[in-house]
Amino acid sequence: MRKLLAANWKMNLGPREAGAVASKIRELCSESPAEVVVCPPFVSLPVVAQTLDGSGIAVGAQDVFWASAGAFTGQVSAPMLRQAGASYCIVGHSETRGRFGKLETPIETLGYFSENEKTLALKLGALRAEGITPILCVGETREERDRGETEQVVLAQLVALDGLQSCDLAVAYEPVWAIGTGLTCPADQAEAACSLIKMELGRRGLAGTRVLYGGSMKGANSGELLAMPSIDGGLIGGASLDPEEFAKIVRSAP
Ligand code: PGA
Repeated sequence: MRKLLAANWKMNLGPREAGAVASKIRELCSESPAEVVVCPPFVSLPVVAQTLDGSGIAVGAQDVFWASAGAFTGQVSAPMLRQAGASYCIVGHSETRGRFGKLETPIETLGYFSENEKTLALKLGALRAEGITPILCVGETREERDRGETEQVVLAQLVALDGLQSCDLAVAYEPVWAIGTGLTCPADQAEAACSLIKMELGRRGLAGTRVLYGGSMKGANSGELLAMPSIDGGLIGGASLDPEEFAKIVRSAP
């Protein structure tokens, strides 16, 4: 299976800056045997899609709304993402669930981020209908890990896949405490969680789905993580904003 390395730019790089960064990623990563996808903010999708056109590097969005059009102020639909050049879309990122590794918003605003398994199931259906590959994120918080609940939390989040069969999909295991904190999950623990996810995907008839690791992945730790048998790629936040660092990660994929 080809490794998949996805750059999650989060709320960074608007249309004025995104083209130059995407162009550098194109220069450094387009020969890679791994599959590469760049996920900019919505407004930068067209410029990134144009810059990467013909390079073999795919473009992805970071979220989607389930209806295809209508009175949903502020939302963006799957057909719109397709028009803007996206063939992948991240869904269920812990930051859209209000579960932050590093809290940079007042705690009383967390109710704004109210993703759940029901909204995710609708989003997965909408992406599937449009032929866009979802990257579904799951992962436990520090407190959940300390209480020994990692497996339970991850399996409960995979309930969003109910009803999906033979879908082109990737699942990213992203322990919340490792996101944006510089703390990477030790490779053996990341492997254990990814292998559990693979078993559950197999049980759901979704064997062959790629399972990625995300959480402070960088050039210095990606080789060890990507060598693990159940880790089929990475979802990279902070380090993907630096094309040289991102290229190091891409090159470290076996
Ligand atoms: P990070 O983010 O690499 O900055 O920890 C990963 C992610 O949230 O997708």
